[in-house]
Amino acid sequence: MATGQCTVVVGCQWGDEGKGKIVDVLAEDVDVIARYQGGANAGHTVHVGEEEFILHQIPSGIIHPGKRCLLGNGVVLDVLQFFEEYEALAERGIDLGGRIGVSERAHLLLPFHKALDHASEDRASEKIGTTGRGIGPAYEAKAGRRGLRVADLGGGERMEKRVHEALERARQRMGGGPDGLESEVRESLKLAERLSSLATDTGRELTEGLRAGKRVLLEGAQGTALDLDHGTYPFVTSSNTTSSGAGTGVGIGPTAIDSVVGVVKAYTTRVGNGPLPSGFEPEMDQHIRDLGGEYGATTGRPRRCGWFDAVLARYSARVNGLTGVAVTKLDVLDTIAEISIAVAYSTEDGGSTGEFPADTWSLESVRPRYETHPGWQADTTRAKTLADLPKNARAYLDRIEELTGAPITMVSVGTERTQIILV
Ligand code: IMP
Repeated sequence: MATGQCTVVVGCQWGDEGKGKIVDVLAEDVDVIARYQGGANAGHTVHVGEEEFILHQIPSGIIHPGKRCLLGNGVVLDVLQFFEEYEALAERGIDLGGRIGVSERAHLLLPFHKALDHASEDRASEKIGTTGRGIGPAYEAKAGRRGLRVADLGGGERMEKRVHEALERARQRMGGGPDGLESEVRESLKLAERLSSLATDTGRELTEGLRAGKRVLLEGAQGTALDLDHGTYPFVTSSNTTSSGAGTGVGIGPTAIDSVVGVVKAYTTRVGNGPLPSGFEPEMDQHIRDLGGEYGATTGRPRRCGWFDAVLARYSARVNGLTGVAVTKLDVLDTIAEISIAVAYSTEDGGSTGEFPADTWSLESVRPRYETHPGWQADTTRAKTLADLPKNARAYLDRIEELTGAPITMVSVGTERTQIILV
């Protein structure tokens, strides 16, 4: 029976909700932070004083001295990117000694996965708009039982054979592939040997930690609408981003999880292709993108922006079993005179629905039904409590809470660690 506390932090929109900031704040009070899915497609930006850290694979908790950070079995580990990040953190004076653990069962993401990702996007008639980080092909290999895991690294000839076969298969699929692919793979595998010293059984480590009273944070990447099963398929990523993926992705059972914090931005953004029902008209789109700095942390791509979509938020609350909601970037709306919330979708057949549809093509043609709220047109960036917020900002949050159906527990009003309201 677990005696510690285990919390999952999950994105409730299309990723980029500001999970990095929320994890950074919550990390203060936990002992271990673990990533449970995804790979270097994620980009978590954390601001500490004048410094900005963008992390793709290592949990953002690493910025907090002494915390243990794990990459679970559900992660596809990009070896080159991982060590680049590792070295960059070490160069900036972060003490990493004994602080990073990598699941023995995590799959390796190698250069041919990235080449396959690019080739597949180039050829597709309907492009996903992936980050190009090799995520789909790495999870395909995992599900196809052809993957290479951290635990396989000492496998000698058997490992060699697998690598050779994987490379050949990739070449066949690409009709050749980029020059130098084999030497890049060799370089990755050489580097990957260093992973053995970081390898751990994340499930055992977390279970024992929880039994000993430790507090654990399981950090999701991307968001609910990008979940392989529950998102806007096929415009999704290739892993289970939702809270149920957390147990599978680190190796603990669902009964070990105590709470699930869902992160929503005070408006909506999406990067990559696929429908965004509450998307803005071009002028407002650019305005909010500029105000919110809405450019991808991994690819630099401009994010599409839109009003808060309560249909999606309510769906996310249900799918993730949220116990609390963290609203981020409220301050981005500080200057907006009128703020809308999508409360339902009008469908092509003249009907209306409050449910997030499984049919992604139909989602492309729905028209959101909006309710409009007066903006607060005041600075929220120094608010420390809900009472410090303008009346209209509080009313906006109350409505988000009511429509989402889960209590708001945190509100972020700026990029700094200190710009947070704990409810
Ligand atoms: P992939 O994960 O690179 O295969 O990309 C699949 C979809 O997920 C694309 O629409 C990407 O833009 C999106 N995506 C992947 N990672 C992130 C992220 O961290 N934030 C936002 N969107 C993401």
